[in-house]
Amino acid sequence: MTALPTTSTIAVIGAGTMGAGIAQVAAATGHSVLLFDAAEGAAQSGIDKTRKGLDRLIAKGKMTAEQADALTGRISACGSLDELAPAKLVVEAIVEKLDIKQSVFAQLEDICGDDVILATNTSSISVTAIAAGLKRPERLVGMHFFNPAPVMKLVEVISGLASDAEVAQIVFDTAAHWGKHPVMAKSTPGFIVNRVARPFYAEALRVLQEGGADVATIDAVMRESGGFRMGPFQLMDLIGMDVNYAVTNSVFNAYYQDQRFLPSLVQQELMQAGRLGRKTGHGFYNYAEGAEQPAPNTTEQWPKPERVIVGGHLGVAESLIAQMEAAEIAIVRSEESDHDFIWVDGVELRLTEGAIATELAAEEELNELVLFDLALDYNHATRIAITKADQASDEALQKAAGLFQAIGKQVSVIDDIPGMIVMRTVCMLANEGADAVNQGVCNAEAVDIAMKGGVNYPQGPLAWADQLGVPVVATVLENLALLYGEDRYRISPLIQRKCFAEQSFFETPSS
Ligand SMILES: NC(=O)c1ccc[n+]([C@@H]2O[C@H](COP(=O)([O-])OP(=O)(O)OC[C@H]3O[C@@H](n4cnc5c(N)ncnc54)[C@H](O)[C@@H]3O)[C@@H](O)[C@H]2O)c1
Repeated sequence: MTALPTTSTIAVIGAGTMGAGIAQVAAATGHSVLLFDAAEGAAQSGIDKTRKGLDRLIAKGKMTAEQADALTGRISACGSLDELAPAKLVVEAIVEKLDIKQSVFAQLEDICGDDVILATNTSSISVTAIAAGLKRPERLVGMHFFNPAPVMKLVEVISGLASDAEVAQIVFDTAAHWGKHPVMAKSTPGFIVNRVARPFYAEALRVLQEGGADVATIDAVMRESGGFRMGPFQLMDLIGMDVNYAVTNSVFNAYYQDQRFLPSLVQQELMQAGRLGRKTGHGFYNYAEGAEQPAPNTTEQWPKPERVIVGGHLGVAESLIAQMEAAEIAIVRSEESDHDFIWVDGVELRLTEGAIATELAAEEELNELVLFDLALDYNHATRIAITKADQASDEALQKAAGLFQAIGKQVSVIDDIPGMIVMRTVCMLANEGADAVNQGVCNAEAVDIAMKGGVNYPQGPLAWADQLGVPVVATVLENLALLYGEDRYRISPLIQRKCFAEQSFFETPSS
């Protein structure tokens, strides 16, 4: 462990949303913190804001007034950069402009000792570029916190081309000492989270654009089946359409317009309409007082089936069988089957593998075909999305819905779009995570820690791929690529390699 001792002074530059929070985190660990902001009075108002936040913790009984006094007492507002000379680590959280950041760090090199560590909280600028031109570029790394810094666990420690590995390790260990879950990553556009998270929004926008399902239904399926804390549209409204759209565009352009990251026309329309989300009172949802909130599509109640035949093994959906038994539905197992299915009174139900039901029904001359979507955990999922082949009857959907309703799920019928909602999103998240690993940005553990700690995913995308089976992820992506004929869905070489080697991402796939 090479964390900076608590006796080391920490400096934070910029006392806005992020800087004030980072100062609080360091002071909470016991460091003396020097806080500087170029705007007159901003450092002190940052401290005052921190104090207000702590008062809320005191009111909830999570902190005593003495502890809050001690914490804020360790943060000092500084009037000039020169006052930061005693700092052993300087974390910069100022305006997101390369030349301004470069100039601040160049000044710091003259003010602070040779052993000072310089860290930038940039979320989108190359750490390599920020360090370029410094006398000691090896002393600079990225230290990327997430908003709100005192709450969010993740810190991405970013190494630029010149960053010294030991310096990165000290920052990593210091972040861990501050109670964070740090990960190491190489300086690349979007680092880990802002890159790997793109499909969470992009696939939802794509499903919406293609009329696969409406906003409220997509969000409900992602929450109640996918286990995500918020649906993608709710989250875009919270983050702000302008911010989310800007990140998407910046990642898209930084990767030389790789179609993987193609921004959405649907989101562009909302931007053009000024519907930026909660902050303007209207985004995908209307936040005006009294505005009616759209309900997710939920089917009416249909009869419970008496018996089902289960063919093969349902893989991640295997727990459905125990739930059906508990609901007193007779199960007949047919292990010999060449594919996996649940048969309900003439209707075949299958977990989506990326192909549309209409195509499968045509290929297999099997008209009454219904597909169901992936759930994080079929025991706890409270909603399941289903879709039918164009050739199938409405009764097929009703019989499938009756089965899921009998085991306590609400059912959303969506259109026959490839990979449905949760499956395509999870596979694309895993694909992007795998590409980050394949390109040496970070390791597989870091991808999962980052996505859980930075954006609260219920499970890391790569552990999720293991649980699903890496070959299943490859099949889903292959089917998406075939149907769309777009480079966007190309399979990461690392996923293909894992399939050839019959390996998973982690030694013991999480269950
Ligand atoms: N807001 C987020 O969700 C978030 C998350 C992660 C990283 N970041 C990154 O953190 C940095 C700060 O973002 P923020 O949201 O806290 O911004 P902010 O606008 O809330 O605060 C920036 C502060 O920096 C001060 N400042 C500007 N130029 C300065 C200079 N030359 N010297 C000293 N102070 C200066 C401003 O007066 C302001 O108080 C940016 O690089 C941003 O990309 C932001």
